[in-house]
Amino acid sequence: MPMRVHAIEKVVENTPIHKTFYFNDRECRNAEPGQFIMVWIPGVDEMPMSLSVIGKQQAVTVEAKGEGTKKMHEMKEGDKIGIRGPYGKGFSLSGEKKLFVAGGTGIAPLMPLIKMSGGKKTVILGARSSHLLLFEEELKSMDVELHISTDDGSEGHKGFVTDLLEEMADADKKFDVAYACGPEIMMRKVLDFCLENSIPMEASLERYMKCGIGICGSCAIDGYHVCRDGPVFESSILSKIEDFGRWKRDESGKKVEI
Ligand SMILES: Cc1cc2nc3c(=O)[nH]c(=O)nc-3n(C[C@H](O)[C@H](O)[C@H](O)COP(=O)(O)OP(=O)(O)OC[C@H]3O[C@@H](n4cnc5c(N)ncnc54)[C@H](O)[C@@H]3O)c2cc1C
Ligand code: FES
Repeated sequence: MPMRVHAIEKVVENTPIHKTFYFNDRECRNAEPGQFIMVWIPGVDEMPMSLSVIGKQQAVTVEAKGEGTKKMHEMKEGDKIGIRGPYGKGFSLSGEKKLFVAGGTGIAPLMPLIKMSGGKKTVILGARSSHLLLFEEELKSMDVELHISTDDGSEGHKGFVTDLLEEMADADKKFDVAYACGPEIMMRKVLDFCLENSIPMEASLERYMKCGIGICGSCAIDGYHVCRDGPVFESSILSKIEDFGRWKRDESGKKVEI
């Protein structure tokens, strides 16, 4: 798929480290929630980003981390970005009682899924601290049961999102399906919880990506390509991926502990 160049239509500052960049790309209008695009920042880099808004307008929500994402945070309305995609396999829309577990920027790919899903929706949103809770206000205005946790206890439950999961199990809350995105150690714990409680689960994985289309092998994980077979994987596959929550590859392809 060739790269399309678009002007950024709107930039929204969500938190001190998150900005959402809106654009209008015909190919992305009907993307599946959970699919990603390769975003090219002229003169800097190309980076995989999940779509956080899907529809007439589309957007990616970017956490400022390294050179590429910090450069993107300097970009304004009218500046040009290149887009390839949408790529990969997204989340499936199934079940009546749904649980969404998001850590940090992990809420970004879950937002279009939450919006498109029907039924009873419970969201557990976590961040290091209250000022880093992404899309909190938007979620409060939606028809969802929202639970907040912060590592430092500045808002909601003090601790990790996975502690709240355990509390919900004690409260005998039953879910038909669970969706998770966030730090891989968190997603591993959500998987273990779901396996124990016989809840089908899907999680969106991150691996180092270059081509985005299954050619270069940089995103390989136990025989799967995260860019093509994922980034969303279901629990039956996740439970067989030995690297999940343990190992990833760096830019040079070397295996490093997560
Ligand atoms: C499928 C997918 C969806 C993603 N969605 C989002 C999103 O919605 N919002 C968001 O803020 N981030 C997202 N990321 C992560 C984002 O791509 C990286 O944070 C970004 O590329 C970092 O680039 P950098 O130059 O700012 O930082 P660097 O200093 O280069 O790296 C910072 C961190 O990002 C990792 N990283 C760097 N380049 C890549 C790459 N090409 N592929 C994967 N990881 C990389 C590095 O290993 C390192 O851990 C996603 C990653 C994947 C694989
Ligand atoms: S990024 Fe090249 S094979 Fe996945």
